[in-house]
Amino acid sequence: MDKKNTASHNMILEKIPWWSSEDIRPYVFVRDENHITHPGQRHRLNWFDKEPIYKDPLDLSELPFAEYVYYIENAAFGPSAMPMPRWVFYDCAVMPGFVCGFAHKKATLPAYLKALLPDFGPIDWVPLSLFIIIPTMHKGEWVAHNLCSVNSLLEKRDQFYGLGFLSKAFGLWYANVEQCSGMTQWGSPALKLHSHYGHLEVIGAYAPVHSHAKTVTYRALVDTNNWEMFFSKEPDLVFLEQYEKTSLLVDPLNEESMIDLQMKIQKKEGPFYLSASEVSKNDLKTPLHIYRPKGY
Ligand SMILES: CC(C)(COP(=O)(O)OP(=O)(O)OC[C@H]1O[C@@H](n2cnc3c(N)ncnc32)[C@H](O)[C@@H]1OP(=O)(O)O)[C@@H](O)C(=O)NCCC(=O)NCCS
Repeated sequence: MDKKNTASHNMILEKIPWWSSEDIRPYVFVRDENHITHPGQRHRLNWFDKEPIYKDPLDLSELPFAEYVYYIENAAFGPSAMPMPRWVFYDCAVMPGFVCGFAHKKATLPAYLKALLPDFGPIDWVPLSLFIIIPTMHKGEWVAHNLCSVNSLLEKRDQFYGLGFLSKAFGLWYANVEQCSGMTQWGSPALKLHSHYGHLEVIGAYAPVHSHAKTVTYRALVDTNNWEMFFSKEPDLVFLEQYEKTSLLVDPLNEESMIDLQMKIQKKEGPFYLSASEVSKNDLKTPLHIYRPKGY
């Protein structure tokens, strides 16, 4: 293990008390044919040293696991009117893709989680988060289709800090993802997470084809060097060296600013990027600066 890896692992242990709990493990919910052949081989990172729990979405005895996933997902996405229908999970996630996250041993579930979640029957582990990623026709590129965590349903004092961020990190690491695209809404807290997996290029700033037009479509080359900055809050010096601020701003409250950037993307005036440090520091409704590689 090199020094940098050790230091970042130590930081995780320090910032995330639940990380070392034997009662919480990563899980992989995937049909047999979609298993990753050599998990965790592409990215040099030693954060995920616990053996995952494996679950099969096509095995009827494991239906309660899926019921927990649905419950958490539907409750988390209810406020944004985007709960995932069961057929979407089956057709668009389980069949083509890969589902993962973290799960808690059911026998030792804290009282506040027992009170929050219905009992879906006999199952050893209860999922606490969900990340779905689907391979695309473009070699090496995957689409992040869904991310949610039970934290959005819990009081701050009961939350598992870093759960959402680490669920996506685990999936990208485990499935050896090189390039990750995704969609989220301007002003969503999820942007704080998505911007930290690699420099985030905005490939679409406005998406009326989606049910929420104020959607940002992004792509990132996965780079684990950025991951610890999510926790350390240190500025990304490599980003500052490689990119410069443009005069463009996207205001999450102003659709025109999204359309304006979208038109520039369509006219191939990009590539355009967001700064993870800025997204992390800003209030969710604060306009975000758009960056471009220096010398472009
Ligand atoms: C967005 C979501 C996945 C984040 O997961 P999480 O487990 O709550 O977040 P993590 O613990 O990994 O990360 C915590 C960071 O995110 C920030 N964050 C999380 N929810 C937030 C919110 N509602 N408002 C502002 N910041 C928020 C925290 O402040 C914290 O930042 P800090 O380190 O600067 O303090 C989760 O809130 C969720 O499931 N939301 C509903 C579904 C959704 O919108 N999913 C995203 C679709 S793309």
